[in-house]
Amino acid sequence: MTWHKVTRYTTLQREQRCVYRHERLKILVIDRGQEQVQALENRCPHQGYPLEDGMLDPEKNTLTCNHHLWAFNLGDGQCTASRAKLLIFPAKVEGGEVWVEIP
Ligand code: FES
Repeated sequence: MTWHKVTRYTTLQREQRCVYRHERLKILVIDRGQEQVQALENRCPHQGYPLEDGMLDPEKNTLTCNHHLWAFNLGDGQCTASRAKLLIFPAKVEGGEVWVEIP
């Protein structure tokens, strides 16, 4: 497992989301405010569409894919309507930078 620097936190704050590419992985990083960030696979397990434009529900802590409305818990990546699961990556803000840990 290695921590990778993604972007400045101020940039993520401004843009709210970004996609970090590492080899063949595409990781969606979301600003949750107050230096809390979340990172997940940017690929819906249903039909593989990107999740970067999905609808965030802060109260339910879910992200819903825009294509067929599957929703995913951002805590563990579990789909709320099927057994599908997203990969979730450890993420943090340190020294003003956003970091994601990739296996
Ligand atoms: S591709 Fe995401 S719900 Fe179908």
